[in-house]
Amino acid sequence: MAHFTIILFFLFHANSALFVSSIGINYGQIANNLPPPDKVVPLVKSIGADKVKLYDADPKVLKAFANTNVKFIIGIGNEYLSKLQDPIVAQSWVKSNVQAYLPATKITSIAVGNEVLTYNDTNLSGCLLPAMQNIHTALINLKLDQQVTVTTPHSLAVLETSYPPSAGAFRDDLKDCISPILDFLSKTCSPFLINAYPFFAYKGNSKEVSLDFVLFQPNDGIIDSGNSLHYDNMLFAQIDAVYAALDKLGFEKLRVQISETGWPSKGDDDEPGASPENAKKYNGNLLKVVNQTKGTPAMPNYDLNIFVFALFNENLKPGPTSERNYGLFKPDGSPAYNLGFSGLSSGENSGRNHSVTLSPPSVMLPGNPSDGYLTISSARGRFVWKNDIIMRIRLMLMMMVLLMVMVYNV
Ligand SMILES: *[C@@H]1O[C@H](CO)[C@@H](O)[C@H](O)[C@H]1NC(C)=O
Ligand SMILES: *[C@@H]1O[C@H](CO)[C@@H](O)[C@H](O)[C@H]1NC(C)=O
Ligand SMILES: *[C@@H]1O[C@H](CO)[C@@H](O)[C@H](O)[C@H]1NC(C)=O
Ligand SMILES: *[C@@H]1O[C@H](CO)[C@@H](O)[C@H](O)[C@H]1NC(C)=O
Repeated sequence: MAHFTIILFFLFHANSALFVSSIGINYGQIANNLPPPDKVVPLVKSIGADKVKLYDADPKVLKAFANTNVKFIIGIGNEYLSKLQDPIVAQSWVKSNVQAYLPATKITSIAVGNEVLTYNDTNLSGCLLPAMQNIHTALINLKLDQQVTVTTPHSLAVLETSYPPSAGAFRDDLKDCISPILDFLSKTCSPFLINAYPFFAYKGNSKEVSLDFVLFQPNDGIIDSGNSLHYDNMLFAQIDAVYAALDKLGFEKLRVQISETGWPSKGDDDEPGASPENAKKYNGNLLKVVNQTKGTPAMPNYDLNIFVFALFNENLKPGPTSERNYGLFKPDGSPAYNLGFSGLSSGENSGRNHSVTLSPPSVMLPGNPSDGYLTISSARGRFVWKNDIIMRIRLMLMMMVLLMVMVYNV
């Protein structure tokens, strides 16, 4: 009987774990103190992530995750885009970095470059689509195009307007460059990837932007004056701004995935909001929102497809302190703050206190980190919060007028 109870207990736990299984995690490795990839497998499982995004195609990681059922987006750094203009190079890249690991490691997508368009480097931008096409052609040649998509993550700064969400629009100067990319994504049934950080909006304007609104805490929210939809968190507003921008260029059918979002647990003095408490609220609430399996106000029937940034704090990332403190975990595998995950001590040993400690940090030089990813705060943050203030003033005025009308009618 006791055994039966234990079995029930495990079944119950296994089932409840299934509900939180649709979150993705970014596994960045710009650090010299991270655990070896085989130790990372249980860590990824302990947070219920079933998707991992890499910034390269690290063979150690791809081997460690063989036969785990974890789906992978692998990356190609911006510095390789010019070489990938050559179809032969593209084909050999796909052979050795994708084909070699399939089907044991579930590589489902290739992210070509990272935030390329917001570097404003026309040479680099010009290399992007041909590189994506060459990779796709290589996949076709190897008969892998049905299982592996080709895409590229963008910074939210590709938007000229992101507020209110229904007014979302791409930067005018990027339209000529982005339209053919959208066309490619649409024809190859690939998703549109965006890196969205409400943290930057808050950091850039902490006096005007409501912290509760950016942290998914209870708040009154805002009404989109364009379509009367109600938003109670900024991430959803950002996602719907992207959908609106896609719609304006005629690509309303593309699916948006959030290839990065997160919140730092530490920052410099001029980085308001970066704290363990806020990181816990942001990522904890984000997990709950994803678990609700409903979409955004404008796209209620579309899955939220979100990759949290990031698995680990990465000590070698340049830039402000926040850049090195986005991790859910410290390099030793212990939680960076309490999200209810016990790091490597939980996972498969549910119910028993069987702390698995990681071996001492092994020194691992970053392989080929994509420089597009080195600093995530560049090219971001400035997006149109001026417009937000104007909108807020307008909203307040409208509400005052409404109130006056009501009062005078009574
Ligand atoms: C762009 O490419 C041209 C021709 O190869 C080169 O002369 C120029 O310096 C490049 N510009 C940048 C910004 O890299
Ligand atoms: C996810 O949703 C399920 C079912 O609604 C619930 O049992 C579980 O506690 C939720 N998990 C989290 C982390 O919110
Ligand atoms: C597990 O064991 C460790 C070390 O013995 C102890 O510090 C910790 O409090 C225990 N945790 C639980 C949940 O019992
Ligand atoms: C790129 O160009 C846009 C539009 O001209 C400008 O707003 C932005 O600051 C530039 N970004 C960088 C990183 O230079």
